[in-house]
Order: sequence, then structure tokens, then C-alpha cells
Amino acid sequence: SPSDPDLVERARAAKAKLGDKVFVLGHHYQRDEVIQFADVTGDSFKLARDAAARPEAEYIVFCGVHFMAESADILTGDDQKVVLPDLAAGCSMADMATAEQVAECWDVLTEAGIAQQVVPVSYMNSSADIKAFTGKHGGTICTSSNAKRALEWAFQQGEKVLFLPDQHLGRNTAVRDMGMSLDDCVVYNPHKPGGGVTVDELRAAKMILWRGHCSVHGRFSLDSVNDVRERIPGVNVLVHPECKHEVVAAADHVGSTEYIIKALEAAPAGSKWAIGTELNLVRRLANRFAPEGKEIVFLDKTVCFCSTMNRIDLPHLVWALESLAEGNLVNRIEVDKETERFAKLALERMLALP
Ligand code: 13P
Ligand code: SF4
Repeated sequence: SPSDPDLVERARAAKAKLGDKVFVLGHHYQRDEVIQFADVTGDSFKLARDAAARPEAEYIVFCGVHFMAESADILTGDDQKVVLPDLAAGCSMADMATAEQVAECWDVLTEAGIAQQVVPVSYMNSSADIKAFTGKHGGTICTSSNAKRALEWAFQQGEKVLFLPDQHLGRNTAVRDMGMSLDDCVVYNPHKPGGGVTVDELRAAKMILWRGHCSVHGRFSLDSVNDVRERIPGVNVLVHPECKHEVVAAADHVGSTEYIIKALEAAPAGSKWAIGTELNLVRRLANRFAPEGKEIVFLDKTVCFCSTMNRIDLPHLVWALESLAEGNLVNRIEVDKETERFAKLALERMLALP
């Protein structure tokens, strides 16, 4: 839907008034009305690097979700302020691993006598507390664009990986990119005593997968893939690695949001694509590439927005920018120093991956 012209004008004016003092980052899942004001757009990895590369900006306005703003705060200078236009923009996946649950899991691994062999690898989509846990225990962060390199690194440091919180990204990377089998993976359920697994299973596993998932990507099914292949003969199925393993196994291509965009840029005219990721991005890509004769459809028949990403809308962005322009710091995301120290260690290990 077209954005309200009055709000567009107000956002433009507030941004112009702030000038170089503000830098606006926009994740690919953001609404069109918001993304038009982003100085850069990107996947989680690119945005983390871009935030760190702007030391002159006093305010980093993060159009994305809470864990992304936390990561930006960790990677930017102490005098830089990260602002999330709506504090309710969380991530249900990140919420699936709390600091208490993860500490309890580490106790289970310690009692099983394997903790010293385990390297934690945490997906970017996790709280700063989980990132700090990861840094403290010698692990690294990964995103969907470097999960393979993160796992390769981790298996040079130890014999087993505890992968948090997205079981699907962990399993898909292990099986699809690392040549492991499904039997090498075990799922740790934080809601069951001992994680719902036996000590023998933990000892035998190479990958201990946290039982978390993305509710948006979890909606794609093997049926969606089979249906679209029937409806559109010759279609290329391209999905995000947060999808279930059976969906990823049935797809033609798998990759992060940035990978999806690059693949469509490189696609020949006349090619057909079904995309399994968030709908704001898929719609934008369908509109962008239609004039070039590339047919792009959403993988599923039902609508599939990320509701928390969508909380950042133009009214919230205008409010944040106008407040900052009036010298009023609102919705600051600030990670405490102790958490930041260890979380930064884990994030820097990721940024240093080959
Ligand atoms: P990427 O942009 O890194 O592919 O991540 C997708 C996602 O779910 C972000 O929340
Ligand atoms: Fe979280 Fe999924 Fe939304 Fe990404 S798409 S922010 S993983 S709920």
C-alpha cells in the first residue's frame, strides 16, 4: 500500500535535519514504507558490519528487530546510540532461548561429562545474553550467510557443537553443507528435564540442536514445494535455511536473504522462482524483477509476514526520527557492559571467520 505522503514528507524532513548524525539501517524484511528511508539494507550479517563501519553517526536507527539492534549496540562505540523505532519488535525465535535455560543446558552437558568438548555456535537471532554465554564458552555467532564457515571453525576448536536457538539452521547446515547425517544431530528441549535426551544420546551426537525455530519460515511445508512445482512447471524453488529440513532438502537453492536477492539478480529473463522467505521481501523482489521478465511467486498459498518486523512502520519511524531531530533520545537499545564484553568476543569471532 502507498505510504501516507504527509508522513513521507515528515520522515524526509527529520532525516534531513539530522544529516550525518543519523544512519538508518533496514533489514530486508522491513515494509516498503520503511525501507525507502534506509541508508543501507541488508541481511543480518551485512547490517552488523555496516553498523560497525559508521563511527561518525551519533544515532543508528535500526529498522529490524531487537536482537539486531542489540548487536549493533555491541559493535558500535560507547558514544553512539542505537534506536529501535518500536520496542515491541522482538523475535519469537530469539525468545526461545533464555539465559537461565541455556545455563541449565550447560549444567546438563557438564554432568554428562561432555561440556569441555562442546563449542557453542549461536545464531545472530538470539539475545545479547545468549551471545555473551557463547563468547564466555569459546564459541562464535553465525548468521544464515556464514553458518557453514562458523561450523567449520567450531569443529576445529572442539568435537561437538551446541547450536542455538534455531534447530533448522543448525540441522540444515550440518547435513547439507557439512556432510553430517541426521543421526549426528540430537535435539535439546529446554522445556523437558535433562533436555528430553539421554546422556548416551548427548555423548553420541556431533550437533546438539536447541529446540527453537522461526514461526514465519516454519509455515512452509513439503506440500508447498510439491504444489508450486505442479502449478508452475520448471519453477526454481529457493528457500531460507530457517525452513524445516524436509523443505530445504526438496528445494533447488538455499540461502540467506542477501543470497536470495543475488540469485534473482543473476537469474535469466524468463526464469520462474518460488521463494520461501518473508513476504515483504518476496513482494518487493517480484515487483522489482517483473519488468525483466522474471516470474517470482511466494512459496506458500497463505500470507506469511513476520509480525514483529512489521511493527516498525512509517508512523514509528517518523516518531523516532522527529524525536531525535528535537534532541530527544527515544527507544535506545543499550546492552550492559558485562554482557557486552563477552557478546562482543563472540561477534568478533564471527567477523573474523575466513
Ligand atoms: P538473514 O537476513 O540473515 O537471512 O536472516 C533472516 C531472518 O530471519 C532475520 O530475522
Ligand atoms: Fe525472528 Fe523469524 Fe521474524 Fe526473523 S522472520 S525476526 S527469525 S520471527
